[in-house]
Amino acid sequence: MQTIILLLFLVCFAGADDIPDGGADGILDGGCELLQRSIGVSAMHMQLLHTDHVIVFDRTDFGRSNLSLPRGICRHDPTERVLKVDCTAHSAEYDVVMNSFRPLMILTDTWCSSGAVAPNGTLIQTGGWSDGEQAIRLFTPCTDTRCDWSEDALGLSRRRWYASNQILPDGRVIVVGGGSQFNYELLSNGNSKNFFSLHFLQETSDPEENNLYPFVHLNVDGKLFIFANNRAILFDYENQTVVPAPIRPRLLQHR
Ligand SMILES: *[C@@H]1O[C@H](CO)[C@@H](O)[C@H](O)[C@H]1NC(C)=O
Ligand SMILES: *[C@@H]1O[C@H](CO)[C@@H](O)[C@H](O)[C@H]1NC(C)=O
Ligand SMILES: *[C@@H]1O[C@H](CO)[C@@H](O)[C@H](O)[C@H]1NC(C)=O
Repeated sequence: MQTIILLLFLVCFAGADDIPDGGADGILDGGCELLQRSIGVSAMHMQLLHTDHVIVFDRTDFGRSNLSLPRGICRHDPTERVLKVDCTAHSAEYDVVMNSFRPLMILTDTWCSSGAVAPNGTLIQTGGWSDGEQAIRLFTPCTDTRCDWSEDALGLSRRRWYASNQILPDGRVIVVGGGSQFNYELLSNGNSKNFFSLHFLQETSDPEENNLYPFVHLNVDGKLFIFANNRAILFDYENQTVVPAPIRPRLLQHR
């Protein structure tokens, strides 16, 4: 987590003239500048939006962050493990151009949630842990400082912890799998109505949970390439069928 924060708040540049001795092969030619010593919130998750603002957020169940919520606001959550009343932020917005940041208020636990950006620029973040496992959280970007998360704690049809999201050509988002979930659901306009079984996720399930955060990519033929554990399929999500042509990726030798 610390590494990610440092990466974000260091600006690195290549080939700058004023940096001598860039290494024998030139690969290290460049430099870094520390922009912020800390923004107070760990970047467990990060998303760059079209406004050149980066949304950073962390799990909520680890106690205080180092960034206070504004105006004395606190979060009251009896389900929290560490702090039932928490006056610190677990999300922040970083403005790349201004090199400034401000606290955002996230209400539900985002630990191992997943997300996608809608065509209109809204970040849709789903699932997580505890009170966040069924949450749908929307962040609609703004150029002033008025926007914040809006959440529906029971928006998803199933609980999703370590699921994967992919934006579809029509703007919907497919949310696939997650712990003990051998199914997927489709979000339309940030809402989910139902879920559908995907047997492949059961077939690739094992005690080590090697099928969590399945790799989901939209293929050029409009099908979804889904890679979980040591197997992959092409999935036609519209007709709910696995494409019969076998794909044989080289098996990962993980034992
Ligand atoms: C908060 O500050 C403490 C003390 O400086 C530091 O150990 C900790 O890593 C900081 N946490 C975050 C999330 O910035
Ligand atoms: C942008 O997309 C999100 C997610 O699909 C939706 O909930 C929201 O209403 C849209 N916003 C506008 C202004 O259309
Ligand atoms: C679903 O089936 C129809 C009819 O065969 C086909 O035109 C369409 O491309 C299929 N959907 C996907 C996502 O492949």
